[in-house]
Amino acid sequence: MPEQELQRRYHLTTFGCQMNEHDSERMRGVLEENGWSPTADPEEADLLLFNTCSVRESAESRLLGRLGEARRLKNERPGRLIAIAGCFAQSRREDIFRDLPFVDIAFGPGDIGELAALAETAAGSAPASSFTFASAPSGGLPARRIDPYRAWVQVITGCTNFCSYCVVPGVRGPECSRPASDIVAEVERLVAEGVVEVTLLGQNVNSYGLDLGGGWSFSSLLGMLDGIKGLRRIRFTTSHPKDLGDDLVDAMRDLPSVCEHLHLPVQSGSNRILSRMNRGYTREHYLELVSGIYSCVPGVALTTDIIIGFPGEKEEDFYRTMTLAAECRYDGAFTFLYSPRPGTEAADFPGRIPETTKKRRMQELVGLIQAMALAKNEGLVGSVEEVLIEGPSRHGEGLLRGRTRGNKIVNFSPFSSGLGAGDFADVNIESATSTTLKGVQTPPRAGD
Ligand code: 5AD
Ligand code: SF4
Repeated sequence: MPEQELQRRYHLTTFGCQMNEHDSERMRGVLEENGWSPTADPEEADLLLFNTCSVRESAESRLLGRLGEARRLKNERPGRLIAIAGCFAQSRREDIFRDLPFVDIAFGPGDIGELAALAETAAGSAPASSFTFASAPSGGLPARRIDPYRAWVQVITGCTNFCSYCVVPGVRGPECSRPASDIVAEVERLVAEGVVEVTLLGQNVNSYGLDLGGGWSFSSLLGMLDGIKGLRRIRFTTSHPKDLGDDLVDAMRDLPSVCEHLHLPVQSGSNRILSRMNRGYTREHYLELVSGIYSCVPGVALTTDIIIGFPGEKEEDFYRTMTLAAECRYDGAFTFLYSPRPGTEAADFPGRIPETTKKRRMQELVGLIQAMALAKNEGLVGSVEEVLIEGPSRHGEGLLRGRTRGNKIVNFSPFSSGLGAGDFADVNIESATSTTLKGVQTPPRAGD
């Protein structure tokens, strides 16, 4: 490889969800296998790469701000390349070079494997793009992982649900499951490399396997992964309430490595709004699922996504969301102000909600969620939780930080020195806030 190529540097900025974080790991892998090295300083980079999100307008606005800065850097050194990857690039594929003429490379989530070749073409001063609409799982690509002890694993790409507010089906294409044998082989390889926790990713993991035929289901996949020796924790996200069956709840209860945490986006507590969102379930069905989960999986942590201010959301609809949230006793929630997205059905719905109303509702909901999360966390005081250590805590000299099986952050003082990221510790929980737990490690048992 020529000397010059070895010195090429890239700077990567990621917006959006865990799926994007994982795609970014693979972009790093592809670039680094092709002679690129990372730099944390954009001023030093020969390639400024943005992995983008278009789920909400706010992510797009932040991207456009960052692109302004990239454009300035390019003006300083015109040979510098600017690349846009991910959902924003895919959704604007027709016009991207016209609207953003300083961009050299554009590609979608299904084209990560092309990145190094696109950079070669663009370095020859021709804009280069690649957009494969069908979202073929790209699990076989090399990934430059952030942590040696945990990893994301994609199990299904795309989405075929068409919630009326959501751009994902339009940009990531239809659902496409990876064969179980590929997933098992990847997880076995990861475990051999030292990974103890995997998070299985999909826009809707509950429909895993339906497109494969042969009776595959997400719970059967979990059963296969649970048998892998050395894999201590399996997490997964995201679940869709309309596809969540008893088999998954049973798997959470019965499979030792499957963590007791379910992220189950409800979006709204009003049947009228749920129907306009095209979610495919009712408030009553969702509440039934939640009560089944609580009674079947002791100590399970439940989190959700909620959209505030969907078109036509009346005060009474919002209060249905509040009462549903109270009944669900969530451990946490991601709350979003509705953002109209071009090309989605809801963007043309009448009944836009004023920003001030949306923000007031958001404040009320966040207050309720925080109070519930605090009560849930206080309920853990006095218990002993298994913690997977992530590294030193920012909350005090000598403290460590990690996560429980329920995905709660714990800051704790270790019993002995020498523990670090990737190790497990049993922690006696002594206090709680709405977002974190604090405690002291219990003395390791004989044999640990
Ligand atoms: N406006 C606001 N929130 C949205 N989400 C998806 N699309 C929109 C939108 N147009 C939220 C949903 C989803 C999460 C990933 O993002 O709550 O579950
Ligand atoms: Fe978007 Fe709905 Fe698919 Fe989730 S299930 S990605 S919200 S369309």
